[in-house]
Amino acid sequence: MIDTHSFARPHEARVTDLHLDLRVDFPRQRVIGRVSLTLDRAAGSTALVLDTRDLLVQAAADGDGRPLTFTLGARDPILGSALEIALPAGATLVHIDYETTPGASALQWLAPRQTAGQRHPFLYSQGQAILTRTWIPTQDSPGIRQTYSARITVPRDLTAVMSAESLTPTGIDIEGGRTFEFRMREAIPPYLIALAVGELGFAPLGPRSGVYAEPATLEAARSEFADVEQMIDAAERLLGPYQWGRYDVLVLPPSFPFGGMENPRVTFATPTILAGDRSLVSLIAHELAHSWSGNLVTNATWRDFWLNEGVTTYVESRIMEALHGPVHADMLQVLSRRELLDEIDRLGGPSSPDTILHVDLAGRDPDEGATRIPYDKGAALMTLLEHHVGRARFDAYLRGYFERYAFQSIVTGTFVDDLRRHLLDEIPGAYETLRLHAWIFEPGLPDNAIATHSTLLENVAADAEAFTSGAAASSLQAAADWNTQEWLHFLNVLPATLTPRQLDDLDATFGLSARRNSEVLFAWLRIAIRHHYPAAMPAVERFLTTQGRRKFLRPLYEDLMASAWGSATARRIYASARPTYHAVAVHTLDAIVA
Ligand code: BES
Ligand code: ZN
Repeated sequence: MIDTHSFARPHEARVTDLHLDLRVDFPRQRVIGRVSLTLDRAAGSTALVLDTRDLLVQAAADGDGRPLTFTLGARDPILGSALEIALPAGATLVHIDYETTPGASALQWLAPRQTAGQRHPFLYSQGQAILTRTWIPTQDSPGIRQTYSARITVPRDLTAVMSAESLTPTGIDIEGGRTFEFRMREAIPPYLIALAVGELGFAPLGPRSGVYAEPATLEAARSEFADVEQMIDAAERLLGPYQWGRYDVLVLPPSFPFGGMENPRVTFATPTILAGDRSLVSLIAHELAHSWSGNLVTNATWRDFWLNEGVTTYVESRIMEALHGPVHADMLQVLSRRELLDEIDRLGGPSSPDTILHVDLAGRDPDEGATRIPYDKGAALMTLLEHHVGRARFDAYLRGYFERYAFQSIVTGTFVDDLRRHLLDEIPGAYETLRLHAWIFEPGLPDNAIATHSTLLENVAADAEAFTSGAAASSLQAAADWNTQEWLHFLNVLPATLTPRQLDDLDATFGLSARRNSEVLFAWLRIAIRHHYPAAMPAVERFLTTQGRRKFLRPLYEDLMASAWGSATARRIYASARPTYHAVAVHTLDAIVA
Protein backbone atom coordinates (compact mmCIF):
# COMPACT_ATOMS: atom_id res chain seq x y z
CA MET A 1 0.00 0.00 0.00
CA ILE A 2 1.57 3.28 -1.12
CA ASP A 3 0.20 6.64 -0.05
CA THR A 4 1.51 9.14 -2.60
CA HIS A 5 0.31 11.98 -0.37
CA SER A 6 2.61 11.36 2.59
CA PHE A 7 6.36 11.52 3.10
CA ALA A 8 6.15 9.02 5.99
CA ARG A 9 8.11 5.75 5.94
CA PRO A 10 6.00 3.84 8.46
CA HIS A 11 7.83 0.57 7.89
CA GLU A 12 10.87 2.13 9.54
CA ALA A 13 9.24 4.12 12.33
CA ARG A 14 5.50 4.55 12.76
CA VAL A 15 3.60 6.97 15.00
CA THR A 16 1.11 5.06 17.16
CA ASP A 17 0.05 7.76 19.62
CA LEU A 18 0.36 11.51 19.89
CA HIS A 19 -0.08 13.87 22.80
CA LEU A 20 -0.67 17.57 22.15
CA ASP A 21 0.07 20.31 24.65
CA LEU A 22 -0.99 23.48 22.86
CA ARG A 23 -1.91 27.06 23.57
CA VAL A 24 -4.27 28.90 21.22
CA ASP A 25 -3.05 32.44 20.61
CA PHE A 26 -5.82 34.44 18.92
CA PRO A 27 -4.01 37.79 18.58
CA ARG A 28 -1.06 36.16 16.79
CA GLN A 29 -3.25 33.55 15.04
CA ARG A 30 -0.98 30.74 16.10
CA VAL A 31 -1.22 27.44 17.93
CA ILE A 32 1.94 27.03 19.99
CA GLY A 33 3.34 24.15 22.00
CA ARG A 34 4.56 20.59 21.87
CA VAL A 35 3.55 17.28 20.35
CA SER A 36 4.88 14.06 21.86
CA LEU A 37 4.91 11.10 19.48
CA THR A 38 5.05 7.46 20.53
CA LEU A 39 6.71 5.22 17.95
CA ASP A 40 6.69 1.65 16.78
CA ARG A 41 10.14 1.06 15.25
CA ALA A 42 11.60 -1.58 12.98
CA ALA A 43 14.89 -3.10 14.05
CA GLY A 44 17.78 -1.01 12.76
CA SER A 45 15.67 2.05 11.91
CA THR A 46 17.47 5.37 12.27
CA ALA A 47 14.97 8.04 11.29
CA LEU A 48 11.42 9.17 11.81
CA VAL A 49 9.80 10.90 8.84
CA LEU A 50 6.80 13.15 9.45
CA ASP A 51 4.57 15.32 7.28
CA THR A 52 4.49 19.07 7.84
CA ARG A 53 3.36 22.08 5.87
CA ASP A 54 3.94 25.68 6.91
CA LEU A 55 4.96 24.77 10.47
CA LEU A 56 7.75 26.38 12.49
CA VAL A 57 9.66 23.55 14.13
CA GLN A 58 11.81 24.78 16.99
CA ALA A 59 13.26 21.69 18.63
CA ALA A 60 13.08 17.92 18.80
CA ALA A 61 14.04 15.79 21.79
CA ASP A 62 13.84 12.18 22.89
CA GLY A 63 11.93 10.90 25.91
CA ASP A 64 14.78 11.85 28.23
CA GLY A 65 14.91 15.40 26.91
CA ARG A 66 18.07 14.90 24.85
CA PRO A 67 18.00 17.07 21.72
CA LEU A 68 17.58 15.27 18.41
CA THR A 69 18.81 16.57 15.08
CA PHE A 70 16.20 17.18 12.42
CA THR A 71 15.99 18.44 8.85
CA LEU A 72 13.07 19.97 7.02
CA GLY A 73 12.90 18.97 3.35
CA ALA A 74 12.07 21.19 0.38
CA ARG A 75 8.48 22.44 0.31
CA ASP A 76 6.14 20.78 -2.16
CA PRO A 77 3.14 23.08 -2.73
CA ILE A 78 0.66 20.24 -2.11
CA LEU A 79 2.45 17.90 0.28
CA GLY A 80 4.52 20.39 2.29
CA SER A 81 7.88 19.40 3.74
CA ALA A 82 9.15 16.11 5.13
CA LEU A 83 10.47 16.49 8.67
CA GLU A 84 13.17 13.91 9.21
CA ILE A 85 14.33 13.32 12.79
CA ALA A 86 17.41 11.23 13.56
CA LEU A 87 16.55 8.52 16.08
CA PRO A 88 19.02 7.14 18.60
CA ALA A 89 18.82 3.38 19.16
CA GLY A 90 15.85 2.45 21.32
CA ALA A 91 14.09 5.84 21.39
CA THR A 92 10.32 5.35 21.15
CA LEU A 93 9.21 8.80 22.29
CA VAL A 94 9.90 12.05 20.45
CA HIS A 95 8.92 15.56 21.59
CA ILE A 96 8.62 18.35 19.03
CA ASP A 97 8.28 22.01 20.02
CA TYR A 98 6.58 23.97 17.26
CA GLU A 99 4.11 26.60 16.29
CA THR A 100 1.73 27.00 13.40
CA THR A 101 1.89 29.93 11.00
CA PRO A 102 -1.07 32.18 10.11
CA GLY A 103 -1.16 30.50 6.69
CA ALA A 104 -1.92 27.03 8.14
CA SER A 105 -4.63 25.79 5.77
CA ALA A 106 -6.34 23.52 8.30
CA LEU A 107 -7.08 26.39 10.64
CA GLN A 108 -9.57 29.16 10.21
CA TRP A 109 -9.28 32.08 12.61
CA LEU A 110 -12.50 34.05 12.75
CA ALA A 111 -12.82 37.60 13.98
CA PRO A 112 -15.74 38.22 16.37
CA ARG A 113 -17.83 39.78 13.59
CA GLN A 114 -17.65 36.48 11.66
CA THR A 115 -19.48 34.68 14.47
CA ALA A 116 -23.16 34.67 15.41
CA GLY A 117 -22.45 36.21 18.82
CA GLN A 118 -20.10 38.90 17.43
CA ARG A 119 -18.26 39.12 20.77
CA HIS A 120 -15.55 36.46 20.71
CA PRO A 121 -13.14 35.08 18.14
CA PHE A 122 -13.46 31.52 16.90
CA LEU A 123 -10.99 28.90 15.69
CA TYR A 124 -11.65 25.57 14.06
CA SER A 125 -9.59 22.98 12.22
CA GLN A 126 -10.40 20.93 9.12
CA GLY A 127 -7.97 18.05 8.64
CA GLN A 128 -9.31 16.10 5.67
CA ALA A 129 -7.70 15.34 3.33
CA ILE A 130 -4.04 16.30 4.03
CA LEU A 131 -4.29 19.43 6.13
CA THR A 132 -3.62 18.02 9.61
CA ARG A 133 0.08 18.43 8.79
CA THR A 134 -0.44 22.22 8.75
CA TRP A 135 -1.17 22.22 12.48
CA ILE A 136 0.36 18.97 13.82
CA PRO A 137 3.68 17.45 12.74
CA THR A 138 2.80 13.76 12.43
CA GLN A 139 2.55 11.00 9.82
CA ASP A 140 -0.44 12.40 7.97
CA SER A 141 -1.63 9.35 6.07
CA PRO A 142 -5.06 7.72 6.57
CA GLY A 143 -3.33 4.33 6.65
CA ILE A 144 -1.34 5.27 9.77
CA ARG A 145 -3.81 5.15 12.63
CA GLN A 146 -2.97 6.91 15.86
CA THR A 147 -4.54 7.32 19.29
CA TYR A 148 -4.29 10.81 20.75
CA SER A 149 -4.65 12.92 23.84
CA ALA A 150 -4.50 16.68 24.22
CA ARG A 151 -4.23 19.54 26.63
CA ILE A 152 -5.47 22.74 24.99
CA THR A 153 -5.23 26.17 26.62
CA VAL A 154 -7.58 28.89 25.38
CA PRO A 155 -8.71 32.36 26.51
CA ARG A 156 -10.80 32.29 29.69
CA ASP A 157 -14.28 32.86 28.14
CA LEU A 158 -13.94 30.24 25.42
CA THR A 159 -14.57 26.50 25.21
CA ALA A 160 -12.42 23.94 23.38
CA VAL A 161 -14.05 20.91 21.73
CA MET A 162 -12.12 18.07 20.11
CA SER A 163 -12.90 14.83 18.25
CA ALA A 164 -12.20 12.89 21.44
CA GLU A 165 -13.57 12.16 24.87
CA SER A 166 -13.64 15.33 26.94
CA LEU A 167 -11.97 14.81 30.33
CA THR A 168 -12.72 18.34 31.56
CA PRO A 169 -16.08 19.41 30.06
CA THR A 170 -16.01 22.92 31.50
CA GLY A 171 -12.25 23.32 31.50
CA ILE A 172 -9.86 24.18 34.32
CA ASP A 173 -8.89 27.76 35.05
CA ILE A 174 -5.16 28.35 34.97
CA GLU A 175 -3.13 31.51 34.92
CA GLY A 176 -3.79 33.34 31.67
CA GLY A 177 -6.55 31.09 30.43
CA ARG A 178 -8.49 27.87 30.66
CA THR A 179 -7.28 24.36 29.89
CA PHE A 180 -9.27 21.49 28.37
CA GLU A 181 -8.13 17.87 28.28
CA PHE A 182 -9.10 15.17 25.79
CA ARG A 183 -8.40 11.54 25.05
CA MET A 184 -9.17 9.41 21.98
CA ARG A 185 -8.54 5.79 22.91
CA GLU A 186 -9.25 4.33 19.50
CA ALA A 187 -6.61 4.54 16.79
CA ILE A 188 -7.90 6.92 14.11
CA PRO A 189 -6.46 8.33 10.90
CA PRO A 190 -4.88 11.75 11.57
CA TYR A 191 -7.31 13.60 9.27
CA LEU A 192 -9.93 13.02 11.99
CA ILE A 193 -8.08 14.96 14.70
CA ALA A 194 -10.12 18.13 15.08
CA LEU A 195 -10.35 21.17 17.31
CA ALA A 196 -12.83 24.02 17.68
CA VAL A 197 -12.52 26.94 20.10
CA GLY A 198 -15.17 29.58 20.63
CA GLU A 199 -18.04 30.75 22.74
CA LEU A 200 -19.94 27.47 22.69
CA GLY A 201 -23.06 26.29 24.44
CA PHE A 202 -24.30 22.71 24.64
CA ALA A 203 -27.77 21.16 24.56
CA PRO A 204 -28.50 17.45 24.95
CA LEU A 205 -30.47 15.70 22.18
CA GLY A 206 -30.65 12.17 23.60
CA PRO A 207 -28.86 9.95 26.12
CA ARG A 208 -25.66 9.83 24.09
CA SER A 209 -26.08 12.77 21.74
CA GLY A 210 -26.12 16.52 21.88
CA VAL A 211 -25.32 19.70 20.04
CA TYR A 212 -22.68 22.40 20.52
CA ALA A 213 -23.26 25.80 18.99
CA GLU A 214 -22.80 29.45 19.68
CA PRO A 215 -25.48 30.54 22.18
CA ALA A 216 -27.32 32.53 19.48
CA THR A 217 -27.64 29.39 17.32
CA LEU A 218 -28.10 26.71 19.98
CA GLU A 219 -31.90 26.58 20.13
CA ALA A 220 -32.30 26.46 16.36
CA ALA A 221 -29.74 23.67 16.19
CA ARG A 222 -31.34 21.69 19.00
CA SER A 223 -34.71 21.74 17.33
CA GLU A 224 -33.33 21.00 13.83
CA PHE A 225 -31.44 17.92 15.06
CA ALA A 226 -34.14 16.43 17.28
CA ASP A 227 -34.05 13.16 15.28
CA VAL A 228 -30.36 12.41 15.87
CA GLU A 229 -30.83 9.75 18.53
CA GLN A 230 -33.30 7.95 16.24
CA MET A 231 -30.71 8.09 13.47
CA ILE A 232 -28.11 6.45 15.70
CA ASP A 233 -30.57 3.69 16.58
CA ALA A 234 -31.39 3.12 12.89
CA ALA A 235 -27.70 3.02 11.97
CA GLU A 236 -26.97 0.52 14.74
CA ARG A 237 -29.80 -1.76 13.60
CA LEU A 238 -28.28 -1.73 10.15
CA LEU A 239 -24.54 -1.83 10.83
CA GLY A 240 -23.91 -3.00 14.38
CA PRO A 241 -23.05 -1.14 17.59
CA TYR A 242 -21.96 2.50 17.56
CA GLN A 243 -18.38 2.27 18.78
CA TRP A 244 -17.52 5.83 19.74
CA GLY A 245 -19.48 6.46 22.93
CA ARG A 246 -21.10 9.85 22.34
CA TYR A 247 -22.33 11.40 19.11
CA ASP A 248 -22.49 15.19 19.20
CA VAL A 249 -22.87 17.77 16.44
CA LEU A 250 -20.95 21.04 16.52
CA VAL A 251 -22.53 23.83 14.46
CA LEU A 252 -19.79 26.10 13.17
CA PRO A 253 -19.96 29.70 12.03
CA PRO A 254 -21.14 30.12 8.41
CA SER A 255 -17.68 30.21 6.83
CA PHE A 256 -17.19 26.44 7.38
CA PRO A 257 -16.28 25.28 3.85
CA PHE A 258 -18.05 21.91 3.98
CA GLY A 259 -21.54 20.75 4.72
CA GLY A 260 -20.28 18.41 7.37
CA MET A 261 -17.12 16.71 8.59
CA GLU A 262 -17.33 13.38 10.35
CA ASN A 263 -14.85 14.05 13.16
CA PRO A 264 -15.26 11.12 15.58
CA ARG A 265 -17.62 11.74 18.52
CA VAL A 266 -18.39 15.22 17.18
CA THR A 267 -19.52 15.96 13.64
CA PHE A 268 -18.64 19.48 12.51
CA ALA A 269 -21.54 20.99 10.54
CA THR A 270 -22.41 24.09 8.55
CA PRO A 271 -25.22 26.30 9.89
CA THR A 272 -26.66 26.35 6.34
CA ILE A 273 -28.52 23.12 7.14
CA LEU A 274 -30.56 24.88 9.83
CA ALA A 275 -33.56 25.24 7.53
CA GLY A 276 -36.09 25.41 10.35
CA ASP A 277 -38.06 22.39 9.10
CA ARG A 278 -35.48 19.56 9.43
CA SER A 279 -35.50 19.16 5.65
CA LEU A 280 -31.70 19.11 5.26
CA VAL A 281 -30.80 16.69 8.07
CA SER A 282 -29.81 13.90 5.70
CA LEU A 283 -26.41 15.57 6.02
CA ILE A 284 -26.31 14.50 9.66
CA ALA A 285 -27.32 10.96 8.65
CA HIS A 286 -24.36 11.08 6.26
CA GLU A 287 -21.81 12.22 8.84
CA LEU A 288 -23.18 9.74 11.37
CA ALA A 289 -22.83 6.91 8.84
CA HIS A 290 -19.12 7.74 8.63
CA SER A 291 -18.87 6.45 12.22
CA TRP A 292 -18.78 3.07 10.42
CA SER A 293 -17.70 3.75 6.83
CA GLY A 294 -14.72 6.08 7.17
CA ASN A 295 -13.98 6.22 10.86
CA LEU A 296 -14.22 2.50 11.74
CA VAL A 297 -13.12 1.23 8.32
CA THR A 298 -11.01 3.90 6.65
CA ASN A 299 -9.69 4.51 3.13
CA ALA A 300 -5.99 3.68 3.38
CA THR A 301 -5.06 6.22 0.68
CA TRP A 302 -6.97 9.03 -1.01
CA ARG A 303 -7.52 7.02 -4.17
CA ASP A 304 -9.69 4.74 -2.04
CA PHE A 305 -11.81 7.72 -0.92
CA TRP A 306 -14.88 6.15 -2.57
CA LEU A 307 -14.78 3.43 0.12
CA ASN A 308 -15.43 6.19 2.67
CA GLU A 309 -17.94 8.25 0.74
CA GLY A 310 -19.71 5.69 -1.44
CA VAL A 311 -20.59 3.34 1.39
CA THR A 312 -21.51 6.35 3.56
CA THR A 313 -23.82 7.83 0.92
CA TYR A 314 -25.54 4.45 0.59
CA VAL A 315 -25.94 4.13 4.38
CA GLU A 316 -27.17 7.75 4.57
CA SER A 317 -29.98 6.78 2.24
CA ARG A 318 -30.82 3.69 4.32
CA ILE A 319 -30.97 5.78 7.51
CA MET A 320 -33.29 8.29 5.83
CA GLU A 321 -35.45 5.41 4.62
CA ALA A 322 -35.64 3.99 8.15
CA LEU A 323 -36.75 7.34 9.56
CA HIS A 324 -38.96 8.71 6.80
CA GLY A 325 -39.89 5.77 4.57
CA PRO A 326 -39.05 4.71 1.01
CA VAL A 327 -41.03 7.48 -0.69
CA HIS A 328 -38.81 10.10 0.89
CA ALA A 329 -35.61 8.09 0.38
CA ASP A 330 -36.48 7.64 -3.31
CA MET A 331 -36.74 11.40 -3.74
CA LEU A 332 -33.27 11.82 -2.28
CA GLN A 333 -31.98 9.08 -4.62
CA VAL A 334 -33.42 10.72 -7.71
CA LEU A 335 -31.78 14.02 -6.76
CA SER A 336 -28.50 12.23 -6.16
CA ARG A 337 -28.57 10.48 -9.57
CA ARG A 338 -29.16 13.81 -11.29
CA GLU A 339 -26.17 15.30 -9.49
CA LEU A 340 -24.06 12.36 -10.58
CA LEU A 341 -24.99 12.73 -14.24
CA ASP A 342 -24.32 16.49 -14.09
CA GLU A 343 -20.97 15.81 -12.45
CA ILE A 344 -19.95 13.31 -15.13
CA ASP A 345 -20.66 16.05 -17.70
CA ARG A 346 -18.70 18.63 -15.73
CA LEU A 347 -15.72 16.27 -15.50
CA GLY A 348 -15.60 15.88 -19.27
CA GLY A 349 -18.07 13.09 -19.97
CA PRO A 350 -18.27 9.33 -19.37
CA SER A 351 -14.78 8.56 -20.62
CA SER A 352 -13.06 11.03 -18.30
CA PRO A 353 -10.55 9.27 -15.99
CA ASP A 354 -11.81 11.44 -13.14
CA THR A 355 -15.08 9.48 -13.23
CA ILE A 356 -13.27 6.30 -12.10
CA LEU A 357 -13.98 5.23 -8.51
CA HIS A 358 -10.38 4.08 -8.00
CA VAL A 359 -9.16 7.43 -9.30
CA ASP A 360 -5.52 8.24 -9.96
CA LEU A 361 -4.50 11.16 -7.75
CA ALA A 362 -0.73 10.77 -7.85
CA GLY A 363 0.91 14.19 -8.08
CA ARG A 364 -2.41 15.95 -7.53
CA ASP A 365 -4.13 17.50 -4.56
CA PRO A 366 -6.41 14.78 -3.11
CA ASP A 367 -9.05 17.48 -2.92
CA GLU A 368 -9.44 17.04 -6.67
CA GLY A 369 -10.86 13.59 -5.99
CA ALA A 370 -13.68 15.06 -3.88
CA THR A 371 -16.26 15.14 -6.69
CA ARG A 372 -19.73 13.57 -6.71
CA ILE A 373 -18.18 10.41 -8.25
CA PRO A 374 -16.98 8.69 -5.06
CA TYR A 375 -20.27 9.65 -3.39
CA ASP A 376 -22.99 8.94 -5.90
CA LYS A 377 -21.31 6.42 -8.20
CA GLY A 378 -20.00 4.63 -5.10
CA ALA A 379 -23.49 4.57 -3.58
CA ALA A 380 -24.98 3.41 -6.90
CA LEU A 381 -22.60 0.44 -6.81
CA MET A 382 -23.80 -0.45 -3.30
CA THR A 383 -27.42 -0.21 -4.47
CA LEU A 384 -26.64 -2.49 -7.42
CA LEU A 385 -25.14 -5.08 -5.07
CA GLU A 386 -28.12 -4.82 -2.73
CA HIS A 387 -30.54 -5.41 -5.60
CA HIS A 388 -28.57 -8.32 -6.95
CA VAL A 389 -28.22 -10.34 -3.75
CA GLY A 390 -31.29 -9.05 -1.91
CA ARG A 391 -31.44 -6.68 1.02
CA ALA A 392 -31.18 -9.33 3.76
CA ARG A 393 -27.97 -10.77 2.38
CA PHE A 394 -26.47 -7.42 1.58
CA ASP A 395 -27.17 -6.11 5.08
CA ALA A 396 -25.57 -9.19 6.61
CA TYR A 397 -22.56 -8.66 4.39
CA LEU A 398 -22.20 -5.01 5.40
CA ARG A 399 -22.30 -5.86 9.11
CA GLY A 400 -19.67 -8.52 8.58
CA TYR A 401 -17.50 -6.09 6.60
CA PHE A 402 -17.49 -3.59 9.47
CA GLU A 403 -16.66 -6.36 11.95
CA ARG A 404 -13.83 -7.77 9.85
CA TYR A 405 -12.10 -4.42 9.29
CA ALA A 406 -13.06 -2.41 12.40
CA PHE A 407 -10.35 0.12 13.27
CA GLN A 408 -8.39 -0.73 10.13
CA SER A 409 -7.52 1.22 6.99
CA ILE A 410 -8.02 -0.67 3.74
CA VAL A 411 -7.40 -0.18 0.03
CA THR A 412 -9.84 -0.82 -2.82
CA GLY A 413 -8.28 -4.23 -3.56
CA THR A 414 -9.01 -5.42 -0.02
CA PHE A 415 -12.63 -4.38 -0.40
CA VAL A 416 -12.95 -6.17 -3.73
CA ASP A 417 -11.40 -9.39 -2.34
CA ASP A 418 -13.66 -9.24 0.69
CA LEU A 419 -16.73 -8.67 -1.46
CA ARG A 420 -15.90 -11.65 -3.66
CA ARG A 421 -15.13 -13.88 -0.72
CA HIS A 422 -18.04 -13.01 1.56
CA LEU A 423 -20.83 -11.93 -0.74
CA LEU A 424 -20.35 -12.93 -4.35
CA ASP A 425 -18.67 -16.32 -4.25
CA GLU A 426 -21.94 -18.14 -3.69
CA ILE A 427 -23.30 -16.57 -6.90
CA PRO A 428 -21.18 -17.93 -9.78
CA GLY A 429 -20.13 -15.27 -12.26
CA ALA A 430 -21.60 -12.39 -10.26
CA TYR A 431 -18.46 -10.25 -10.44
CA GLU A 432 -18.48 -10.53 -14.22
CA THR A 433 -22.27 -10.32 -14.66
CA LEU A 434 -22.44 -7.15 -12.62
CA ARG A 435 -19.35 -5.78 -14.41
CA LEU A 436 -17.78 -4.87 -11.12
CA HIS A 437 -14.37 -4.35 -12.65
CA ALA A 438 -15.81 -1.65 -14.90
CA TRP A 439 -17.70 -0.11 -11.99
CA ILE A 440 -14.57 0.31 -9.89
CA PHE A 441 -11.69 0.68 -12.33
CA GLU A 442 -13.25 2.22 -15.45
CA PRO A 443 -14.83 5.61 -16.17
CA GLY A 444 -18.50 6.47 -16.59
CA LEU A 445 -21.66 5.07 -15.06
CA PRO A 446 -22.29 1.48 -16.28
CA ASP A 447 -25.74 1.02 -17.80
CA ASN A 448 -26.75 -1.61 -15.25
CA ALA A 449 -27.00 1.09 -12.56
CA ILE A 450 -30.38 0.78 -10.84
CA ALA A 451 -32.71 3.65 -11.76
CA THR A 452 -34.89 4.99 -8.98
CA HIS A 453 -38.30 6.51 -9.65
CA SER A 454 -40.19 8.99 -7.59
CA THR A 455 -43.81 9.60 -8.50
CA LEU A 456 -43.77 12.75 -6.41
CA LEU A 457 -40.84 14.14 -8.36
CA GLU A 458 -42.33 13.03 -11.68
CA ASN A 459 -45.39 15.11 -10.83
CA VAL A 460 -43.17 18.06 -10.04
CA ALA A 461 -41.37 17.63 -13.36
CA ALA A 462 -44.74 17.71 -15.13
CA ASP A 463 -45.50 21.01 -13.41
CA ALA A 464 -42.12 22.35 -14.47
CA GLU A 465 -42.93 21.42 -18.04
CA ALA A 466 -46.33 23.09 -17.87
CA PHE A 467 -44.70 26.24 -16.54
CA THR A 468 -42.00 26.13 -19.21
CA SER A 469 -44.64 25.88 -21.93
CA GLY A 470 -46.40 28.99 -20.73
CA ALA A 471 -48.55 28.24 -17.67
CA ALA A 472 -48.54 30.91 -14.97
CA ALA A 473 -46.68 30.19 -11.74
CA SER A 474 -49.91 30.79 -9.84
CA SER A 475 -51.54 27.89 -11.73
CA LEU A 476 -49.15 25.37 -10.15
CA GLN A 477 -51.57 24.37 -7.41
CA ALA A 478 -49.40 21.65 -5.90
CA ALA A 479 -46.48 24.00 -5.29
CA ALA A 480 -48.08 25.29 -2.11
CA ASP A 481 -47.35 21.92 -0.49
CA TRP A 482 -43.98 21.11 -2.02
CA ASN A 483 -41.24 20.12 0.37
CA THR A 484 -37.57 21.04 -0.03
CA GLN A 485 -36.77 18.08 -2.27
CA GLU A 486 -39.72 18.81 -4.56
CA TRP A 487 -38.64 22.42 -4.88
CA LEU A 488 -35.12 21.34 -5.69
CA HIS A 489 -36.34 19.01 -8.40
CA PHE A 490 -38.64 21.64 -9.87
CA LEU A 491 -35.79 24.13 -10.12
CA ASN A 492 -33.29 21.55 -11.37
CA VAL A 493 -35.42 20.46 -14.31
CA LEU A 494 -36.28 23.95 -15.58
CA PRO A 495 -34.60 24.62 -18.93
CA ALA A 496 -31.97 27.33 -19.48
CA THR A 497 -34.34 29.22 -21.80
CA LEU A 498 -36.80 30.92 -19.49
CA THR A 499 -37.89 34.46 -20.36
CA PRO A 500 -37.41 37.45 -18.02
CA ARG A 501 -41.20 37.45 -17.55
CA GLN A 502 -41.16 33.82 -16.45
CA LEU A 503 -38.36 34.53 -13.99
CA ASP A 504 -40.26 37.53 -12.59
CA ASP A 505 -43.36 35.36 -12.31
CA LEU A 506 -41.51 32.61 -10.43
CA ASP A 507 -39.81 34.99 -8.03
CA ALA A 508 -42.93 37.09 -7.38
CA THR A 509 -45.20 34.07 -6.90
CA PHE A 510 -42.89 31.91 -4.80
CA GLY A 511 -40.55 34.44 -3.17
CA LEU A 512 -37.52 32.44 -4.31
CA SER A 513 -34.90 35.18 -3.85
CA ALA A 514 -36.00 35.54 -0.25
CA ARG A 515 -35.90 31.82 0.61
CA ARG A 516 -34.19 30.90 3.87
CA ASN A 517 -33.57 27.30 2.83
CA SER A 518 -29.96 27.37 1.58
CA GLU A 519 -30.38 24.53 -0.95
CA VAL A 520 -33.53 25.97 -2.53
CA LEU A 521 -32.02 29.46 -2.60
CA PHE A 522 -28.85 28.07 -4.19
CA ALA A 523 -30.77 26.22 -6.92
CA TRP A 524 -32.76 29.37 -7.70
CA LEU A 525 -29.73 31.66 -7.75
CA ARG A 526 -28.00 29.37 -10.24
CA ILE A 527 -30.98 29.71 -12.56
CA ALA A 528 -31.05 33.47 -12.06
CA ILE A 529 -27.34 33.85 -12.90
CA ARG A 530 -27.54 31.63 -15.95
CA HIS A 531 -30.36 33.75 -17.29
CA HIS A 532 -28.58 37.03 -16.46
CA TYR A 533 -31.57 37.93 -14.31
CA PRO A 534 -30.59 41.17 -12.57
CA ALA A 535 -33.36 41.26 -9.95
CA ALA A 536 -31.80 38.33 -8.09
CA MET A 537 -28.31 39.84 -7.91
CA PRO A 538 -28.72 41.37 -4.44
CA ALA A 539 -29.69 37.91 -3.19
CA VAL A 540 -26.65 36.42 -4.95
CA GLU A 541 -24.37 38.92 -3.27
CA ARG A 542 -25.96 38.32 0.13
CA PHE A 543 -25.60 34.55 -0.21
CA LEU A 544 -21.97 34.74 -1.34
CA THR A 545 -21.03 37.04 1.53
CA THR A 546 -22.88 35.40 4.40
CA GLN A 547 -21.76 31.77 4.14
CA GLY A 548 -18.60 30.00 2.94
CA ARG A 549 -19.72 26.53 1.95
CA ARG A 550 -17.67 25.56 -1.10
CA LYS A 551 -20.45 23.45 -2.60
CA PHE A 552 -22.51 26.67 -2.92
CA LEU A 553 -19.71 29.10 -3.70
CA ARG A 554 -18.01 27.25 -6.52
CA PRO A 555 -20.95 26.83 -8.92
CA LEU A 556 -22.22 30.35 -8.29
CA TYR A 557 -18.84 31.94 -8.97
CA GLU A 558 -18.35 29.64 -11.98
CA ASP A 559 -21.73 30.62 -13.40
CA LEU A 560 -20.98 34.31 -12.84
CA MET A 561 -17.54 34.03 -14.43
CA ALA A 562 -19.00 32.32 -17.50
CA SER A 563 -20.12 35.67 -18.98
CA ALA A 564 -19.00 39.26 -19.26
CA TRP A 565 -22.35 40.06 -17.66
CA GLY A 566 -21.42 38.36 -14.39
CA SER A 567 -17.65 38.35 -14.20
CA ALA A 568 -17.14 41.93 -13.03
CA THR A 569 -19.67 41.36 -10.27
CA ALA A 570 -18.01 38.07 -9.31
CA ARG A 571 -14.63 39.76 -9.02
CA ARG A 572 -16.00 42.61 -6.94
CA ILE A 573 -17.85 40.30 -4.53
CA TYR A 574 -14.90 37.92 -4.29
CA ALA A 575 -12.45 40.72 -3.51
CA SER A 576 -14.44 41.63 -0.43
CA ALA A 577 -15.53 38.13 0.62
CA ARG A 578 -12.25 36.25 0.07
CA PRO A 579 -10.80 37.13 3.50
CA THR A 580 -13.89 35.60 5.14
CA TYR A 581 -13.60 32.23 3.38
CA HIS A 582 -11.67 29.17 4.64
CA ALA A 583 -8.38 28.32 2.87
CA VAL A 584 -9.82 25.27 1.09
CA ALA A 585 -12.57 27.39 -0.44
CA VAL A 586 -10.08 30.12 -1.35
CA HIS A 587 -7.87 27.54 -3.03
CA THR A 588 -10.75 26.40 -5.25
CA LEU A 589 -12.12 29.89 -5.93
CA ASP A 590 -8.80 31.56 -6.75
CA ALA A 591 -8.62 29.25 -9.76
CA ILE A 592 -12.09 30.36 -10.90
CA VAL A 593 -12.16 34.09 -10.16
CA ALA A 594 -8.57 34.75 -11.24
N1 BES B 1 -15.78 13.83 4.64
C1 BES B 1 -16.61 14.71 3.91
C2 BES B 1 -16.06 16.10 3.79
C3 BES B 1 -14.71 16.20 3.10
C4 BES B 1 -14.42 15.44 1.99
C5 BES B 1 -13.78 17.08 3.56
C6 BES B 1 -13.17 15.55 1.37
C7 BES B 1 -12.54 17.19 2.96
C8 BES B 1 -12.23 16.41 1.85
C9 BES B 1 -18.01 14.78 4.50
O1 BES B 1 -18.47 13.57 5.04
C10 BES B 1 -18.95 15.10 3.40
O2 BES B 1 -19.06 14.32 2.50
N2 BES B 1 -19.60 16.27 3.45
C11 BES B 1 -20.52 16.71 2.43
C12 BES B 1 -21.94 16.54 2.85
C13 BES B 1 -22.52 15.23 2.51
C14 BES B 1 -23.98 15.17 2.95
C15 BES B 1 -22.42 14.89 1.05
C16 BES B 1 -20.29 18.19 2.23
O3 BES B 1 -19.54 18.78 2.99
O4 BES B 1 -20.89 18.75 1.33
ZN1 ZN C 1 -18.86 12.08 3.63
